[in-house]
Amino acid sequence: MNTPASSERSHQTKGLLRLTMACNERCPFCNVPVEDYPRPTPPDEEIEAQLQAFLDSGQQTMTISGGEPTLLRRKLLALIARARQAGVPFVELQTNAILIDPAYAAELAEAGLTSAFVSLLSHRADHHDTLAGLPGAYPRCLAGIDALLAVGVRVTLNPVIARLSQEGVAAYIDFVAERLPGVRSVSLSAVQPHGRAAANPELLPDYPRLSASVRLARARARAHGIELLNPYCGLPLCVGWEDGLDSCVEAVEAELGGWQERPGIENAGDKRQGDPCRGCALRTRCGGAWHAVWDQGPDGGLSAPLRVRPPWLEGAAAWPGQCVDRAPEAGEWTVWRRCPAPLEPLDALWAGPWTDLAIELEGASLDPQGRPDRALLSWMRRLDRANQGLGDTRRRRLWLRLSEDSPVRAARVLSLCRALGVHAVQLVGPVADHGRALAALVPGILWSEDSGDA
Ligand SMILES: C[S@@+](CC[C@H](N)C(=O)[O-])C[C@H]1O[C@@H](n2cnc3c(N)ncnc32)[C@H](O)[C@@H]1O
Ligand code: SF4
Repeated sequence: MNTPASSERSHQTKGLLRLTMACNERCPFCNVPVEDYPRPTPPDEEIEAQLQAFLDSGQQTMTISGGEPTLLRRKLLALIARARQAGVPFVELQTNAILIDPAYAAELAEAGLTSAFVSLLSHRADHHDTLAGLPGAYPRCLAGIDALLAVGVRVTLNPVIARLSQEGVAAYIDFVAERLPGVRSVSLSAVQPHGRAAANPELLPDYPRLSASVRLARARARAHGIELLNPYCGLPLCVGWEDGLDSCVEAVEAELGGWQERPGIENAGDKRQGDPCRGCALRTRCGGAWHAVWDQGPDGGLSAPLRVRPPWLEGAAAWPGQCVDRAPEAGEWTVWRRCPAPLEPLDALWAGPWTDLAIELEGASLDPQGRPDRALLSWMRRLDRANQGLGDTRRRRLWLRLSEDSPVRAARVLSLCRALGVHAVQLVGPVADHGRALAALVPGILWSEDSGDA
């Protein structure tokens, strides 16, 4: 995988400063609505302190947002100028653009604004105005974009796809290519279930339908030479991005993070992986979906675009995106280590570059109660503990292949494995015929080659 083309592509390089929470639009999906802020505009000293903190951080891109920052013209211009004079190379403005006429755009450029991130919410006037909560917003937004481009400010568009607009993503890209040829990049975000959108879940796009739209839009963007990004806090990879990881900020970040023992994607607090992610080959590159998506049902309408293949199965070493018992190369997401008995010291093992560990356990190594020996049990406990606190993308998974004759002993092993955080167990031998009954008895841990679950 390539690294991002510019440092601006990583959200981690962007310091966000909210000049005011007041706004001249009423987007029904707004994640930071003014009504949540008893004091919408912070005093000057607070803005000054935030600017100083940003300067001290040494970050490259300062993003000014809100609310709508263009409402405070004088303060906004002064803030941009101060940041640039202090050596900040990039200052970006997040705006709905409806106040920006040629004179205002010229002042912004003169102050040193380098780029703008504009919420053009749809290529259709009716959809844009509905999503902006303001009749007549559409032509004003387009005029604002024209004015910014005319003074040399780079513009990225943010459509914030909602259920209302989800079928029109490709048409949006075609519109941009024709009507706004000066725009070279679109950040394809979708409504997040926060702020006002938390109370309006019908605004959230329907992911299975959106997948098809995203794939189409990506093809149109390629044809027009427009950069289309899946931004931080954007879409799960299975929503149309499964073969475009280089353009997905979270996936790039996860790859750049390497194999260190730290949580991967930082939005893990708002997102998680769910049932379909269990066998997903991309799970080490994907933050999953918002909690609200999984709340709609255990699969959230999502399915893994490609499943992993445990190393004991034929073809595992050549499976797309995975490697077995060797150092990973760029673009490999699943790194299998086979763990032979006697088990390797965990400290040394943990330091190695792997995502998934495979153990093949013979029935003979279990005691009559179906318990693995004490050394293996304590090793599994330590592995489970080492995983505590790691996010979904970085958690290391233990897979077990169990050759067993007795369904009763197999059920005991499955219960024990579940309690010890084992990710999945595949049964082989005579007991495999009892898969369905065992899955009913101990749900959520059995693995089968065909379906992922017994
Ligand atoms: C809160 S707005 C403030 C800047 C400006 N008023 C605007 O509309 O662009 C910052 C960014 O968040 C986006 N946004 C707001 N609510 C969102 C949500 N629920 N899901 C995804 N993006 C959202 C906006 O489209 C905008 O690009
Ligand atoms: S990890 Fe989950 S949400 Fe992400 S691509 Fe795989 S199935 Fe989809």
